[in-house]
Amino acid sequence: MREGKPDPAIAVFLAALFVASAVPLINGADGEEPVTQLSNGFTATHLADAPGRFEPVLYSHNGVFAFGFLRVGSASLDLAVVHLPSSFPLWRATPDRVADWSRPATLSFDSRLVLTVPRVGELWSTLNVVGDTVALLNSSDLVIRLFNGRGTPWRSFENPSDTLVLGQNFTMSSPPLISKNRRFSLRFAKTYMALYMEFYGGSKRPMYWQYTAREAQPENATQPPVYGRLDSRGFFGFYLLGGDQSVDMLAFDTFVRNLTGAFRRMTLDDDGNLRAYYWTEGSKAWTSDYKAISGPCELPTSCGAYGLCVPGGAPRSLSYYVPHQGMQIFVKIHVTEDQNLREENVVSDVRQGMLAVQA
Ligand SMILES: *[C@@H]1O[C@H](CO)[C@@H](O)[C@H](O)[C@H]1NC(C)=O
Ligand SMILES: *[C@@H]1O[C@H](CO)[C@@H](O)[C@H](O)[C@H]1NC(C)=O
Ligand SMILES: *[C@@H]1O[C@H](CO)[C@@H](O)[C@H](O)[C@H]1NC(C)=O
Ligand SMILES: *[C@@H]1O[C@H](CO)[C@@H](O)[C@H](O)[C@H]1NC(C)=O
Repeated sequence: MREGKPDPAIAVFLAALFVASAVPLINGADGEEPVTQLSNGFTATHLADAPGRFEPVLYSHNGVFAFGFLRVGSASLDLAVVHLPSSFPLWRATPDRVADWSRPATLSFDSRLVLTVPRVGELWSTLNVVGDTVALLNSSDLVIRLFNGRGTPWRSFENPSDTLVLGQNFTMSSPPLISKNRRFSLRFAKTYMALYMEFYGGSKRPMYWQYTAREAQPENATQPPVYGRLDSRGFFGFYLLGGDQSVDMLAFDTFVRNLTGAFRRMTLDDDGNLRAYYWTEGSKAWTSDYKAISGPCELPTSCGAYGLCVPGGAPRSLSYYVPHQGMQIFVKIHVTEDQNLREENVVSDVRQGMLAVQA
């Protein structure tokens, strides 16, 4: 398990991902300014033999974030907003049909953003949006705007992928956070947020972790729903929609240290855990200061089908997957004080997506 250490998957990714491309410049007299706005008629082409893993086309004013073509895995192409100091993609377009890095692709803006591959067609777009310009805000929010401050018809903050950043509101009506491997999701309900296993093809989604806002009242029908937001002071706050009335907070390890000036993200990782990370000036890696699930055997990914998860030291709880009606059921067994495991009295608790073994 990756307890307390920087995520090795991320470390590998960081080593591999390299922001190699030259900064795209506005063709102006001084020719020095990075591109900070795209207007209608903009097009950029990804070259099939592009050397770097990230080809930026748009920068935030603070120079910390860029939006562009990202190579994912060995050969896939995606669009992403990348945190430049760490090369970490904070947002990805994640088209349903995957584009191939070894083929040319075009990103264009013509009232909406569109990713097109010749002879394949449109792979991704911001659907029915009508906007005038595209910008990347200092917060990493990619926005399509109308002229004269008449609104923001589309923003990446309202279409998250696997990560939330500082100031990004996550609500009941937000699309869920989906892990990169697409096996897990984080969703908000009226008074709680929860982690689920995703089964594409219509089966039920088993929930494996839930956190209810302490001061939210599920029985009060007139109380507005709760939403969440990552705070620079080192916590994930829960508030009542329509205002900033706080109903709870999940404090991170750095909360008591009053660590200011760090950039923070909360990511639903591929092992199904939800973790918060921070990056300070001069950091070499992201540091995790919160995880939703601390017992490795509480995670649905600890082991494959029929694999047995035994945490360090005396085994107190075991978990494994069982294929059941086309699904993988996460099974958790608690070991009794006398270290006996009794396998009778298996009770199925489908609501929790688990089979509990009564010892
Ligand atoms: C974004 O950051 C730049 C550089 O730090 C700053 O000059 C600019 O005022 C910021 N923009 C906003 C809207 O805060
Ligand atoms: C229900 O919630 C609303 C809004 O938070 C509050 O004004 C009201 O007093 C609550 N009602 C009860 C019975 O607690
Ligand atoms: C998040 O919600 C708060 C409170 O409703 C609001 O003030 C803020 O502008 C929202 N942030 C974004 C990025 O939409
Ligand atoms: C935390 O940091 C802020 C800004 O540096 C400072 O104003 C505040 O007094 C600090 N609080 C504590 C409890 O140290």
